[in-house]
Amino acid sequence: MTPAGDGTVPPPPGEVRLRRLPVTADAVAAAREASGVLSAQERERAAAFRRAADRDLYLVAHVGLRSVVAPVLGVAPREVVLGAAPCPSCGEPHGRPVLPQAPGLHVSLSHAAGLAVVALAAHEVGVDVEPRDRPAAELEGLLPELHPDERRLVVAATDRSAALLRVWVRKEAATKARGVGLAEPLHEHSTAWAGTRGVAADGLHVLDVDAGPEHLGAVAVRAPRGVEPTVVVPGRRPGT
Ligand SMILES: CC(C)(COP(=O)(O)OP(=O)(O)OC[C@H]1O[C@@H](n2cnc3c(N)ncnc32)[C@H](O)[C@@H]1OP(=O)(O)O)[C@@H](O)C(=O)NCCC(=O)NCCS
Repeated sequence: MTPAGDGTVPPPPGEVRLRRLPVTADAVAAAREASGVLSAQERERAAAFRRAADRDLYLVAHVGLRSVVAPVLGVAPREVVLGAAPCPSCGEPHGRPVLPQAPGLHVSLSHAAGLAVVALAAHEVGVDVEPRDRPAAELEGLLPELHPDERRLVVAATDRSAALLRVWVRKEAATKARGVGLAEPLHEHSTAWAGTRGVAADGLHVLDVDAGPEHLGAVAVRAPRGVEPTVVVPGRRPGT
């Protein structure tokens, strides 16, 4: 991973700019304070959470998303317009998040137990993070639905739960880049490779990313042919 600039220029082709937003007490306080930047729809969704922890995670994620995207669009966070692409499966507007103010800029968001992550790219992108301690039983039932190569990789692994979670996070990032989400047939594309990056059969690049000590992460991006995508984390030096 390589460092990014000041965050005001769009990511160049092939680059995925990743922003980690840990849900610390300070981040929650700041997000609550700044929640006026959210749209009416976002505020309504935030208010609908029963558990305060879920609401706070949502607030950190959505205030964070706006604060990452706003400087690139050259607008204030409250002026960021966030839409949803038509679902590639049914056409209804519940696909990938889209930024109508900058159709060439693509964004993805994931939030899970204490961490939100925003990915920005010049191409369709998906990001996913999962807590490393996610109970294995939650995912074990999905094993039969995976691609045969993924099933083989998991079954042969010394640490089956870790391998299953790794495959899962790649898989979810890929389904988000494709825009269908987990409604897509999960056996269609394999993410079973031994290294930290690979290319799915439909040309989607999938890269494992450093999501911090408590989470696993992956991004998927549809980079132009011949371009090897890179993941850039603002504030991080190469190798850190
Ligand atoms: C989209 C999905 C993969 C998200 O996974 P998750 O583990 O619940 O949550 P994550 O935190 O990783 O990601 C959530 C974010 O993904 C984004 N998202 C939602 N739908 C998406 C889609 N179809 N494609 C890409 N991204 C999507 C949103 O930004 C969402 O954030 P928000 O809920 O705060 O607005 C999952 O909810 C899903 O597959 N939903 C079902 C899709 C479905 O049934 N579609 C019907 C097809 S007809």
